[in-house]
Amino acid sequence: MTELTPRKVDMEKITSLSRRRGFIFPSSEIYGGLSSCWDYGPLGVELKRNIKDAWWRAVVQKRDDMVGLDTSILMHPQVWEASGHVKGFADPLVECKSCHLRWRVDDLGGNNCCPDCGGELTEPRMFNLMFKTFMGPVEDKASVVYLRPETAQGMFVNFQNVLNTTRKKLPFGIAQIGKSFRNEITTGNFIFRSREFEQMEIEYFVKPGTDKEWFDYWLEERFNWYVKLGINKENLRLRQHTKDELAHYACECYDVEYLFPMGWAELEGIANRTDFDLVQHANSTGKNMEYFDEETKEHFIPYIIEPSAGVDRSALAVLCDAYDEEEEEGEIRVLLHFHPSLAPVKVAVLPLSRKEKLATLAKQIHADLRQCWSTQYDDAQSIGRRYRRQDEIGTPFCVTIDFQSLEDEQVTIRERDTMNQIRVPISELKTALAAKLSGEDLLVLPPGGKIWKIEKEA
Ligand code: GAP
Repeated sequence: MTELTPRKVDMEKITSLSRRRGFIFPSSEIYGGLSSCWDYGPLGVELKRNIKDAWWRAVVQKRDDMVGLDTSILMHPQVWEASGHVKGFADPLVECKSCHLRWRVDDLGGNNCCPDCGGELTEPRMFNLMFKTFMGPVEDKASVVYLRPETAQGMFVNFQNVLNTTRKKLPFGIAQIGKSFRNEITTGNFIFRSREFEQMEIEYFVKPGTDKEWFDYWLEERFNWYVKLGINKENLRLRQHTKDELAHYACECYDVEYLFPMGWAELEGIANRTDFDLVQHANSTGKNMEYFDEETKEHFIPYIIEPSAGVDRSALAVLCDAYDEEEEEGEIRVLLHFHPSLAPVKVAVLPLSRKEKLATLAKQIHADLRQCWSTQYDDAQSIGRRYRRQDEIGTPFCVTIDFQSLEDEQVTIRERDTMNQIRVPISELKTALAAKLSGEDLLVLPPGGKIWKIEKEA
């Protein structure tokens, strides 16, 4: 983490909204919670799924040089010997001699006393971050296995399986989304650093000598992905790792950083892992990890460019970036300006009254819309309060059904950001919503091509 720059939103507001509206809860909350473990609620799970879907579409579905994998969390323990994690995946740790809290040295920002109580700190010692468990009924040294600290190794050990089954030619990549586990020394800042988290990782295999070019390509590609998701460009930057920050496997690395409420911090790391991992696994297993280039008739071990992102950190960045408060007629309107492709609920259906005739029509419309999008039906309290409830969870469009709808077969679409309202025929509602929701990443129905009248919210 570098300079601490204040942000328009504090973390307290994000955690409180997440808790209140069902995005994220502390894990095992009724037992007092479990440190740095989180549960995603009904809205959080949709947000996270939308982020993962957007990533998968961008890096696998839309490309012909990428394939996906889903490898197991538990792997042969030798994998972690060969990868260097058993020996080298450690952070320097100090302990307070008074309150016994433990701290990562790099979180102390040069301070040499306890940030909590000001007590004296111990000398740093290295602490391995991997979680250990036992495989099978006997809990001895021979049955130790690890919960993976990165998804990457599952892709390296399957390099030849992917080559043989897909006949891909270099350059090509493997992508994977999955859980990783790290026994982090200090956690906190909500879901920013937790002990169980989800990664979205790409391992891109290239011919040695072309690695620099591909490294630069992925830096740009990944930075732009966050911008396309609607994250403010001013809140994003690329930062190069200094030599002493580099992971044991990397010769070059940049972080995509986001300006979180606590300051600039890593969202994604893009590393040139060289041929380190494939060479290590070849040496450890005696298996051939080479690629045969049919054109040049050369055998070589590819270099790997690795863009590695966190799902939870992306969700946190999206929440922080979308959060906004506006004054509306003396009241504060809290809203999340989610990109439509990320919004957990795309459309809310709001009948002006619970009277049977109106409710029947509204329910029909709701049943029809939910075939296409995630929707909510809300008929409780005033229409103003219902709009505010939807604004606060980032629903881009509300469809209001009023008594006039029964006569003219038209309904109102109300937009979250502008609060503008347009009246559209029910027969064209889906087309109108599809046109409005259609970022390139959404299901697009045939456009209606009509211009409807826009009115300001009453
Ligand atoms: N395979 C390379 C690798 O794992 P990393 O920089 O250690 O690299 C990649 O992790 C990404 O995973 C980070 O940029 C971050 O988004 C996410 N991540 C890592 N540790 C995390 C933690 N304790 N909690 C939440 N996300 C984490």
